[in-house]
Amino acid sequence: MADYDVIIIGSGPGGYVAAIRAAQNGLKTACVESRETLGGTCLNIGCIPSKALLHASELYEEVSAGHLKKFGITASAKIDHGELLASKDKAVKGLTDGVAFLFKKNKVDWLKGHASFESKNSIKVGDTVYTAKNIVVATGSSVTPLPGADVDNDKGVIVDSTGALSLKKVPGHLVVIGGGVIGLELGSVWRRLGAKVTVVEYLDQILPGMDGEVRKESAKLLKKQGMEFLTSTKVTSVKTGKSGATLTLEPAAGGEATTLEADVVLVSIGRRPNTEGLALEKSGLALNKRGQIEVDHYLATAVPGIWAIGDVTPGPMLAHKAEDEGIAVADNIAGLTGYVNHDVIPSVVYTMPEIAGVGLTEEAAKEKGEVKVGKFPFLGNSRAKANQDTDGFVKIIADAKTDRVLGVWIVNRLAGTLIAEAALAMEMGASSEDIALTCHAHPTHAEALKEAAMAVTGKPIHI
Ligand code: FAD
Ligand code: NAI
Repeated sequence: MADYDVIIIGSGPGGYVAAIRAAQNGLKTACVESRETLGGTCLNIGCIPSKALLHASELYEEVSAGHLKKFGITASAKIDHGELLASKDKAVKGLTDGVAFLFKKNKVDWLKGHASFESKNSIKVGDTVYTAKNIVVATGSSVTPLPGADVDNDKGVIVDSTGALSLKKVPGHLVVIGGGVIGLELGSVWRRLGAKVTVVEYLDQILPGMDGEVRKESAKLLKKQGMEFLTSTKVTSVKTGKSGATLTLEPAAGGEATTLEADVVLVSIGRRPNTEGLALEKSGLALNKRGQIEVDHYLATAVPGIWAIGDVTPGPMLAHKAEDEGIAVADNIAGLTGYVNHDVIPSVVYTMPEIAGVGLTEEAAKEKGEVKVGKFPFLGNSRAKANQDTDGFVKIIADAKTDRVLGVWIVNRLAGTLIAEAALAMEMGASSEDIALTCHAHPTHAEALKEAAMAVTGKPIHI
């Protein structure tokens, strides 16, 4: 008899959620985690600490940059750097301890240590071999290294996202390599706290994969805040000196090299799946060209009894995608019907304003067929006007023939929360008319979604 019905390797948002749901489904469940605490990248060194710093630094900037003056409020701000980092660590501890509590409550065994396959239905942790009817690989991802830029988070000169979450002081000049999600979020944190921030991006625009208009608007707003961008630029070397580093840059298309001095360099050029040290060859599993584990609609791999979820599989590397797959895989293993609609996975960049999207970009939708687009600026939204915070817009892309909503993009302070309505609408197969006919409370930012839906037929009221 197997030791467990299910063993999950990795306790990130994919793995821990899968473990809890598997236990809820009556399966004898264990989760292996090599880190000291549960919760994976997201809770320990990702979503949670970054959002804690984003929130605190936003509050600081509101006061320090005099953003409240327009309401007749003046105040002065001072940072206690140690306290700032400690409050972030407290948020992390609360949540990682919370997962440990949930494991106990649901009778999930935490097998502490590094797991590697012994066969297709057994793994080794330390000196012990455990057998299981089902094994779920939820090992997540790690930072993609940049050749020539050796990350040393302890030294704090060339850092990755983990190092950038714990810088010992605000750098004078932070150079961010990669204008993606991590670069813009953590770049915003340190800029708000006083650093000059320069983002070097290989492509001609930041935020690849997002809607074109959203990318332009985001770059415009972030530039206005003082973030500098060197697009179409590649970093050819990063050399550390006594203090700080010197970067050599070249136009992406080739050309004359220039140099740039930095106190701290953040390498944020993407993440890659964690599969090293798993002894996958003993399981019979193979990787695709991108080093990921391929799965089918049920999250089953090519080897019966082995499943995979989250960042180690294809698709966006997002915590909520991993979580939903965690629930689905545990339901599928229990013989229930697990389901994830990969066409409707929202993504949010937690800058200020936030940048959010779900479904297709206008560019991708147009490649598939004829579309109608409705756009509504927050300048026409009464709540945003009352709050004197009118940056951004809502954009709805609908099928020209069926009116079905294909994609929604939002740039706004509350975009991350507002996008949930769009995701629900798309999940239900809504048309833009459905959104336009839904009564939205007044005065709320959400009314901008209704107006954008009305704009699809050219009849918004407030613009
Ligand atoms: P992970 O969270 O990476 O967890 C995998 C776990 O498996 C790790 O704890 C690892 O130690 C463990 N492990 C790996 N191999 C083994 C092994 N062989 N044996 C035992 N244990 C093993 N996503 C969002 O949706 N929203 C955000 O705001 C957001 N912010 C982010 C900010 C930063 C700075 C970073 C780096 C990422 C952020 N992400 C965000 C991405 C998010 O963290 C990941 O998509 C998510 O954590 C993936 O979950 P996962 O369960 O697949 O893997
Ligand atoms: P990313 O893929 O978002 O962005 C990397 C950027 O670096 C791209 O713009 C790319 O063109 C650029 N780049 C690549 N090589 C380069 C080079 N040599 N020189 C200059 N630029 C280069 O990756 P990032 O920001 O590291 O984030 C990794 C993952 O973590 C993302 O997939 C994201 O989904 C996830 N994440 C999600 C967050 C969220 O949901 N809010 C927050 C942070 C991370």
